Amino acid sequence: MARGLILGIESSCDETAAAVVDRGARTLSSVVASQIATHARYGGVVPELASREHLRAIVPVVRAALGGANVALADLDAIAVTSGPGLAGALLVGITYAKALAFAQGLPLIAVNHLEGHIHAVLLNERESAQDPQDAQSPVLALVVSGGHTHLYLASPVDGSWHYTLVGRTVDDAAGEAYDKVAKLLGMGYPGGPWIDALALHGNPHAVPFAFSQIKTKLHLGGKPPRTKAARTAPIAALDPHFLFSFSGIKTAVLRYVELHNLRPEAEARREALFTGPDAPARPTVDDALATCDPITLDLIASFQHAVVGDLMKKTFAAAESLGVARILVTGGVAANRELRARFTTEAVRHGVSVAFPTLALSTDNAAMIAAAAWPRFLAGDFAESSLTGDPSLALGR
Ligand code: KG4
Ligand code: ZN
Repeated sequence: MARGLILGIESSCDETAAAVVDRGARTLSSVVASQIATHARYGGVVPELASREHLRAIVPVVRAALGGANVALADLDAIAVTSGPGLAGALLVGITYAKALAFAQGLPLIAVNHLEGHIHAVLLNERESAQDPQDAQSPVLALVVSGGHTHLYLASPVDGSWHYTLVGRTVDDAAGEAYDKVAKLLGMGYPGGPWIDALALHGNPHAVPFAFSQIKTKLHLGGKPPRTKAARTAPIAALDPHFLFSFSGIKTAVLRYVELHNLRPEAEARREALFTGPDAPARPTVDDALATCDPITLDLIASFQHAVVGDLMKKTFAAAESLGVARILVTGGVAANRELRARFTTEAVRHGVSVAFPTLALSTDNAAMIAAAAWPRFLAGDFAESSLTGDPSLALGR
């Protein structure tokens, strides 16, 4: 039986991560060094700082992953690294280090798409909990929902590897980006998703009726060259408009609501009290945040989340139905959200389909998912050239 110890390295955004996974099915170690503390004061990821932090962290993180797995470099069978999409400078740190290790050890190098990694986070969990995935034979619909992406893929197993077809995507902001921007607007820290997740439990989700209108592709592109970042990298016009997402409108609607109800002074006071002021706690808790929120803000937060989750759910289940797929995976940072997990689970029962999420640790960026996604490529001998470079807008499938 082929051995399959793969060291995965991930540095596409603001987490430096390394993991050792055996045969894509057993995690021996998974180490994640988060840069949240570095970026928090800027309210978002600063690319130059991210590259610098990756440079600082990559050697100790890889060392910790090998140590945690109790393996030496010489025990490895391959090295896998995220080659995109992501921040150019950040990707480069992981790729350069992975290439150097692979060259020095005479090991094959495997390039992994970050989005494919997120999908494999769920498959890895399933293999580990020995619920041998029926997905080994049947196609799945994967919703990758994170700070950078809101993408729906049809993932089909073909001869031991996976083929991906893009089914839907955001035409502007990613869902996680909307969470982060709304949280920032309301004076919450970065990343905003976990704050909104926790505070939404204390508000009325039906207080503000945010609505998503159906996206009309032709109208959206207006016959002109596409202007959005998203449109440049994927054939939006070729996708079914029912499976397109747009989260920039709700962000603007929240901003209007904040202005209309004069919530800005409160948000500024909250930011000062929790994050930037001289008396700000070292690590603000949800109770600290709750104490600074009035009911109208809590209702706004709960309503925002309810609308976003509802929209993700409606389009994902409509796509599953239209494609005749009985299995849905939801993955990426926003998949950690409690309301999302609860409502997708209930909706799956209603539709008679199954839905799976990664564990919380594997929902956000990590390297175990990169090493797991590399396993079918290892078996297929699908190795990267030594000229491998990062591709910030690398697409998955077509
Ligand atoms: O997958 P990830 O770690 O990095 C990217 O590839 O983007 O996702 C990070 C995103 C951030 O936008 C963060 O606010 C969001 O995931 N997030 C959440 C939650 N935890 C993280 N959004 C909603 N609810 C959460 N519990
Ligand atoms: Zn990610």
